[in-house]
Amino acid sequence: MQTLFLVADSGGIRTTAKLLRSGEIVAIPTETVYGLACNALNPEAIEKVFKVKGRPSNNPLIVHVSGLEMAGKLGLEIPPIAEILSERFWPGPLTMIFKKNKDTIPPEVSCGLDTVAVRVPSHPAALEIIKLCRFPLAAPSANISGSPSPTKSEHVYDDLKDKIPLILDGGECEGGIESTVVMFETIESSEISQRIRILRPGGVTAEQLGEFAETVIDDAVCAEYNGENPSSPGTAHKHYSPKAQVIAVVAENQEKFINYINANKKKGDFILSFTEDINENARLLFSMLRDLDEMGAKRIFARLPEPEGLGLAVYNRLIRAAEFNSVKAE
Ligand code: TXA
Ligand code: MG
Repeated sequence: MQTLFLVADSGGIRTTAKLLRSGEIVAIPTETVYGLACNALNPEAIEKVFKVKGRPSNNPLIVHVSGLEMAGKLGLEIPPIAEILSERFWPGPLTMIFKKNKDTIPPEVSCGLDTVAVRVPSHPAALEIIKLCRFPLAAPSANISGSPSPTKSEHVYDDLKDKIPLILDGGECEGGIESTVVMFETIESSEISQRIRILRPGGVTAEQLGEFAETVIDDAVCAEYNGENPSSPGTAHKHYSPKAQVIAVVAENQEKFINYINANKKKGDFILSFTEDINENARLLFSMLRDLDEMGAKRIFARLPEPEGLGLAVYNRLIRAAEFNSVKAE
């Protein structure tokens, strides 16, 4: 199958919607990373997505809708806290997990779980496609499972060429890191209060969520998960890894980081340099990992950021890219 590239103008968007309506899968831009989209109500299309990505069959997909109203029609239990968060953060990089009370969404989307993850993307092309299709889109990141997520259409092409009919090019993703995934828990002492549990950190930070309700960061966010049933199956897999070996460096300051590199550097070693701007670091992280692969890196050293604000999301991706290998720069 030859992969077509189209610019995300009105013609490109119409062609995308037409292909999605006919049960095809298409790579589309979102504000976080590129998504590999299909009709979330079509089990065969969902199966294609898993197959093309080589995605483990126990890693559920996010369903993308145009707003809370569309989410409300999917047979999900939407608690009051979610309505408040949707007003503040949708469209945008917040994915909320809801219990199903009807089987509107086929079991293939959530790999048989009794919950569904939902978000409203803010990229105008993604929103327009959902509105034209009038069905929800299931879309994981448009990369081969395990590799760094795609933030440019070229990244999608490198991973999925000849496997999908169309890549809709909407430019470079402005966020560069995937959405924050949260679930809600009832606080035992109170029937109405809900706690927000962050399963995957992303563009909406724990600090921002904390303004609305008690917010906890799941243990698996910064550490390796060794148990049997992770709350978010996807976060337990090896992830975001370039071909080169990534080594995450814990360093009190930049000087100690540089000294460590100078003392340990070998041929084929590259440094992933972060700036002072954490937004920029998040936006470029995956792209830099792919670039360093192209440059022939054997090992990539990167300094772990402070796990706060958007730094938590960068920390979470880096430590997984490094397969939890970290060293301390003394
Ligand atoms: O920004 C994003 O979220 C991008 C764009 C394309 O929207 N999508 C994305 O999808 O990152 P994916 O498939 O790469 O990651 C989905 C994450 C996985 O960690 C998965 O385990 C979790 O969401 N997830 C999905 N449904 C879930 C559910 N019902 N319960 C728990 N975790 C769920
Ligand atoms: Mg992914």
